[in-house]
Amino acid sequence: MHTISLAIPLGLIHALRTAQHVAVLTGAGVSAESGVPTFREAQTGLWSQYNPEDLATPEAFRRQPAVVWQWYDWRRRLVAAAEPNAAHRALAALEMLVPRLTLITQNVDGLHQRAGSTDVIELHGNLQRVVCSRDHQVVTSWAETEDVPPRCPQCQALLRPDVVWFGESLPQRALQAALDAARDCDVFLSVGTSAVVQPAASLPYEALEHGAITVEVNPSATALTEHATYVLPGPAGQVLPALLHAAWHEPGIAP
Ligand code: OAD
Repeated sequence: MHTISLAIPLGLIHALRTAQHVAVLTGAGVSAESGVPTFREAQTGLWSQYNPEDLATPEAFRRQPAVVWQWYDWRRRLVAAAEPNAAHRALAALEMLVPRLTLITQNVDGLHQRAGSTDVIELHGNLQRVVCSRDHQVVTSWAETEDVPPRCPQCQALLRPDVVWFGESLPQRALQAALDAARDCDVFLSVGTSAVVQPAASLPYEALEHGAITVEVNPSATALTEHATYVLPGPAGQVLPALLHAAWHEPGIAP
């Protein structure tokens, strides 16, 4: 793989090098180069007839719990077989380069943690965790029976993935921590997100309103593009290493 020839603006290099607090919001695009399909691109194979937005809802789970469970099971296996990419690794390295980093993700794949990032704020949960659909307690083991989804060993309610579905509230502490970081940071990076799903989509605007330099990393334009202080168009796995290389001359970071 070649590093794309991307001119990183000097103002951005200076802002990164002098920042006391950098906040990063990531979306599905950050995992695209690991082979995990983004949310809004067509699904392949068995699941091509389904729209993710029709599966990731409490109504879908009530109507067709087996289909929803099997879809998450398929995504769980896809993620388990995937590896973190250069974008995940660059963000893990960034933790060592700035006085304070807050990494906020909408992804449920756990790839940031596998790349070495600590203290990741997961706004939409994690698909590797399973909870009871009645009281939301985490369940780590259950009897393997014919039942799909399996049932809670305590109360026999159906088990579900610990992710936030459309129409559900985000975990309150995670959302508050993300808002606090957006309001406090000097530089805010929005990476690989279409920036349409609220409340995560409001975080870059919170940062802008509170005076942060806001940077978008995405090969396609989004609603945020025209508002961002800097736009770095391109795949995150190439842009983020190039950014770290430009700011800190980190030799080990180039892809
Ligand atoms: P989307 O699938 O909406 O958007 C992915 C974004 O990544 C798009 O803007 C792409 O242009 C961009 N992209 C694709 N490849 C990229 C690459 N290599 N590098 C950088 N960017 C790339 O995913 P999200 O914005 O994460 O919520 O979606 C947000 C939320 O909507 C998801 O967490 C999920 C979904 O509905 C819930 O499940 C609640």
